[in-house]
Amino acid sequence: MSLVIRRARVLTLAGDRPRRGSCLADLGLLERADVAIRDGTIAAIGSGLPAAQREIDADGRVLMPAFADCHSHACWAGDRLDEWAQKLRGVPYLDILRAGGGIMSTVRAVRSAGRASLAATLLERLRLMRSLGSATVEVKSGYGLSTEAERTMLGAIADAAARADAEGGPSVVPTALLGHAKDAAWGGAGEDGGDGFVERTIRETLPAVSREHPGITIDAFCEVGAWSVDETVRLLARARELGHPVRVHADQFNSLGMVREAIRLGARSVDHLEASTPADLDALAASPTAGVILPACGFHLDGRYASARRFVDAGGILALATNLNPGSAPCPSMPAAMALAVRHCGITPAEAIAASTVNAAHVLGLGDRGQIAVGQRADLLVLRHRDERALAYEFGSNPVWAMVRGGVLIGA
Ligand code: NIG
Repeated sequence: MSLVIRRARVLTLAGDRPRRGSCLADLGLLERADVAIRDGTIAAIGSGLPAAQREIDADGRVLMPAFADCHSHACWAGDRLDEWAQKLRGVPYLDILRAGGGIMSTVRAVRSAGRASLAATLLERLRLMRSLGSATVEVKSGYGLSTEAERTMLGAIADAAARADAEGGPSVVPTALLGHAKDAAWGGAGEDGGDGFVERTIRETLPAVSREHPGITIDAFCEVGAWSVDETVRLLARARELGHPVRVHADQFNSLGMVREAIRLGARSVDHLEASTPADLDALAASPTAGVILPACGFHLDGRYASARRFVDAGGILALATNLNPGSAPCPSMPAAMALAVRHCGITPAEAIAASTVNAAHVLGLGDRGQIAVGQRADLLVLRHRDERALAYEFGSNPVWAMVRGGVLIGA
């Protein structure tokens, strides 16, 4: 199957990857160009390219890499609407978690849902995310907590991923979020004053997941009332020994020192960063570990946002994601995340585009997408807009005019 998209304003994002510092704003613009696609990959970029089986006239619209949403908790059951009502009355997120709600209420719903129903609801959310321009979506487990329930979640994510793949995407990258909260009832009493849940997760769940999903990324939520720095380091260090990449949620509400430990562990990314100190942002920026900002949390919870401007100016690898989840960010839309990041995290529309494409793919370890260059996977968006700044300027709308996923045209 061959396809040519003609007369587009092409944001190639070609060149160095990942993008750091001032290079983040370099979109590799070709003001008027054609892009040819063959067998799922980009075959040529230029003008007056030969005819193909299928042709689209973009008529000056923006053509860019599709989004990679590199942080989501899109697999869940139940809802948190009653808790949202509490939050609207001013009850903090961590107080709800401390009282046994929050993540734990979703854990209870997930455990009673079963694999088939988890996969079915995830598939619906994936379709919605694709319709908003995400061709790749990372999906975390983390609402199972026990070994069996985490395995069920990861099985459901794999089932939904296979079905999504067969029907036009998005491509799913699973992550095992083994350290999300703690279920004392499942963990039992710890030895030598340690936390029983943490010990059992490291001793039992991690090896089981490692056997079943070799090389899967392991993640944890390091926060007051969740996993401490010491516990997170123990889990992630063991995961590294077993050959897994690691990521971590850190500094969402409190700066605990996890950023420095994540750098030391060689983590792929540190995600959140709302409460990070300037010194920690600078240290992260000087490292190979990326920073992932999740501004839908600030919008939904408490008006606190990561200082992405400082991080980028210090030379950091910045990525942006929705963080879709029922508690802190019920947001499936990358364009909405971009609109928030530009308004509240200090980055420009161009920087938001690079953070949502080439750098987001980097966080997921995917070097085959995120740029429009010969040989790259053809996951592309044609926007309604003829100026890419409109992508972050408009909000509450869908900017997608047409999407190509793995070389297949999804709509125009
Ligand atoms: O990244 N904070 C930890 N995990 C998610 C929220 C999950 C939930 O509240 O269900 C986050 O914000």
